[in-house]
Amino acid sequence: MKFNLNNFLSAVSFALDFLEIDFLGATSNHSKRVTYIAQRLSEYFKMSDEEQFDLYSFAILHDNGLCEDVLLTGRPAEIFKDKHKHLETYIDHCNIGEENVTSFPFLTGGRNIIRYHHEHFDGSGFFGVAGADIPLMAQIISLADTVDNLYHFETRNLENREKIINFISLHKGRYYSSEIVDAFMDICSHTSFWLDLQEPFIYEALLNKSPIKEIDIHIDEIFLITKVFSKIIDSKSKFTYRHTSGLTEKAGIMADFYQFNQNSKTQFLIAASLHDLGKLAIPNAILDKPGKLTKR
Ligand SMILES: [Fe+2]
Ligand SMILES: [Fe+2]
Ligand SMILES: [Fe+2]
Repeated sequence: MKFNLNNFLSAVSFALDFLEIDFLGATSNHSKRVTYIAQRLSEYFKMSDEEQFDLYSFAILHDNGLCEDVLLTGRPAEIFKDKHKHLETYIDHCNIGEENVTSFPFLTGGRNIIRYHHEHFDGSGFFGVAGADIPLMAQIISLADTVDNLYHFETRNLENREKIINFISLHKGRYYSSEIVDAFMDICSHTSFWLDLQEPFIYEALLNKSPIKEIDIHIDEIFLITKVFSKIIDSKSKFTYRHTSGLTEKAGIMADFYQFNQNSKTQFLIAASLHDLGKLAIPNAILDKPGKLTKR
């Protein structure tokens, strides 16, 4: 069956951005901005259609392991706000994120892109990997991600724009390769680049840049993808951790009991794995509130 991965990824970007806002107090649309910048750089480097699509997917999913990490380790989310102060804690979300997406249907089979999305070109990052040993896609995500976290690309003033350009120039050959820095400088010399990163233009800009990709996929593979999503949903709250996976497991038992055919069973499992999707948009202060909800 035909499956539109772009639509799916766009939904994932909303889900992840909601989570980062709630867990980390991040500004909205972070993964969308990272993906837009990555997409512009992938065009600049004339990546193939398959590579562009994969980078687009990896960029949206780059921090998918973050909330699970916070939940599993019991670390306060605050420490993730400044990676320069808490270097060692960042490794876990890179590893968790990499493992989470192993079943995702990437087209080039790229590995270690999420794992190394915080590495530095000169080897001073968390894993100590340097230069060409860091996949180009990971290097691109690293630049877009770090700079958006530090200086928020959506901020509308020239002073902030200068700060971003200075930071990136200063780290040329250190955090980022000369090629990537030169490419970024070229792309950002156009005012439209900065406008595209601002709300509400970022939605449209990302849609325009998205590599249209409908893939032929078996329904079982769609279930593998929605399982990635259900992990993200379960990461939302420590009180319901494993809720979706547990419910999906029971849905499978019920489908067998009622003798669903294989196709209906998989459809049922997909629905079960996504049933609590709306929780992502609800702040944890409400979801985890002890006792009854009040009007305010
Ligand atoms: Fe990250
Ligand atoms: Fe990020
Ligand atoms: Fe539920």
